[in-house]
Amino acid sequence: MKTCLSLGTFRWCGWLAALAVAAPIAQAAAPSSRARVEKSSFGRTPDGVEIELYTLTNARGAIAKVITYGATLTELWVPDRSGNLGDVILGFDRLDGYLGEHPYFGSTVGRVANRIAKGRFTLDGRSYQLACNDGPNHLHGGPQGFHRKVWKAEPAARRGAASVRLVYTSPDGEEGYPGNLTATVTYTLTDRNELRIDYEATTDKATPINLTNHSYFNLAGEGDILAHQMMIAADRFTPVDDTLIPTGKLQPVQGTPMDFTRPMAIGSRIDQLTNNPRGYDHNYVLNSGGGRLARALRVSDPHSGRVMEVRTTEPGIQFYSGNFLDGTIRGKYGRVYPKHAAFCVEADHFPDSANQPAFPPTILRPGKTYRQTTIHRFSVQK
Ligand code: BGC
Repeated sequence: MKTCLSLGTFRWCGWLAALAVAAPIAQAAAPSSRARVEKSSFGRTPDGVEIELYTLTNARGAIAKVITYGATLTELWVPDRSGNLGDVILGFDRLDGYLGEHPYFGSTVGRVANRIAKGRFTLDGRSYQLACNDGPNHLHGGPQGFHRKVWKAEPAARRGAASVRLVYTSPDGEEGYPGNLTATVTYTLTDRNELRIDYEATTDKATPINLTNHSYFNLAGEGDILAHQMMIAADRFTPVDDTLIPTGKLQPVQGTPMDFTRPMAIGSRIDQLTNNPRGYDHNYVLNSGGGRLARALRVSDPHSGRVMEVRTTEPGIQFYSGNFLDGTIRGKYGRVYPKHAAFCVEADHFPDSANQPAFPPTILRPGKTYRQTTIHRFSVQK
């Protein structure tokens, strides 16, 4: 805790870190400091590999913490309307939590995020069978997906932004996927209170790819997210079967509880949904169509005043309202996470794209570079 205290003008930072363990709230820094990155240890895996923790701090005192295990975002501290910093994502205090079973808290998910029906797809006339880890289906890259890998990190600080770039090479055949694929994820915290996530990948054989971040947000920092006001720039969604595989249709949201084209409390119509466990767990078809950085959603918390706006290059957003959280996980600050303790907004391609020729394609070929950018901008409202 005290390491940071010795850094002269950055004395407040050590104090903040100390506070963060006791009570997840702190006052934002004076706007005179500069964006910076600090590296420390987050512990060791059972086979002795050191996991690094990178703390990105911007000039306004917002903080993002990223570990090399799963290229995971572990903390995100942004101000409320009174200037108090709060950690707005779920996660664990220690590495043990991330090494155990958990529903992808803050993880980078890949090679293919979301579901692939029965873990099967055919590419260039050849069939592939992936590892299945969600009933009959493959979910979020499989049981040993990118969230379970140790990434190599390179920090960088420049004027107006602090960032860390993480790299992982997934070998040919890993979890059943073809090709050696090198993926990079760069987290950048800008002085505009934006968390920008840039992804890139290249391969030596054609493979499906669909990377995203699986952070669980709660803009109040605690309680449930049912009063958060959500707006999603999507007139349609992809309806699913009872194993959450899209039927292939694009269905209008208008007149249904799926409609967030205008701001609505997440909880206002959740009881009208009939899935089990009840709640949002659907891919929205963004009106932008993907391919360029465009507005995807805005969510605000009436209590803290915090607002998060998301822009992405992706054609879809999986909006998941934490339906499978059930109070059995104890996370940071000793808190347990009940149903709807947080929501995820996973910017990516549609589920099961590898088997749905009408969906935007997810195949990466040798010589091409996969790219995706998603920006989460934090601000406050009265
Ligand atoms: C999925 C949920 C799943 C959760 C955690 C979300 O992306 O849509 O169905 O329970 O991830 O695995």
